[in-house]
Amino acid sequence: MTSDDALSGPVAGGPAPAAPEPFPSLLAAARAVAERAYAPYSGYRVGAAALADDGRTVAGCNVENAGYGVTLCAECGLISDLVAGGGGRITHFVCVNGPGEVIMPCGRCRQLLAEHAAAGFTILTPAGTRDLEGLLPQSFAAADIDAGRDR
Ligand code: THU
Repeated sequence: MTSDDALSGPVAGGPAPAAPEPFPSLLAAARAVAERAYAPYSGYRVGAAALADDGRTVAGCNVENAGYGVTLCAECGLISDLVAGGGGRITHFVCVNGPGEVIMPCGRCRQLLAEHAAAGFTILTPAGTRDLEGLLPQSFAAADIDAGRDR
């Protein structure tokens, strides 16, 4: 884990601590894209933004469907933006809800993010920044397939 105090909550009587770089601009991008979410069923908007290792900012919002299970999380749109825009890996990630509060990715999307995370990946969480192990402990990855496939 990395910093555990960056967003640990407002100090009594004082302002909330500022998010470390580059998260202020990623938060702005995530909040902006959350406004474009298509969430008529849950009424719960999500926006996600990440910095790619080539300096691009990639983003996505949730896109729901009348077939509820078909719903695309915001992270799906973000990873599609990353890959369609030339690939690479994400170094910093944050997602927010409609009111703009920092939230955690769902379990499935933690796996999705892990596949495309750079070494040194950092996520901003409601409790501060975390590394990949803090996001998805002991994650299953490509190396596990290579190590355990039928010979
Ligand atoms: N949602 C996301 O977009 N990302 C997450 O990590 C959590 C959940 C969306 C899916 C659905 O449209 C709504 O939030 C409620 O689950």
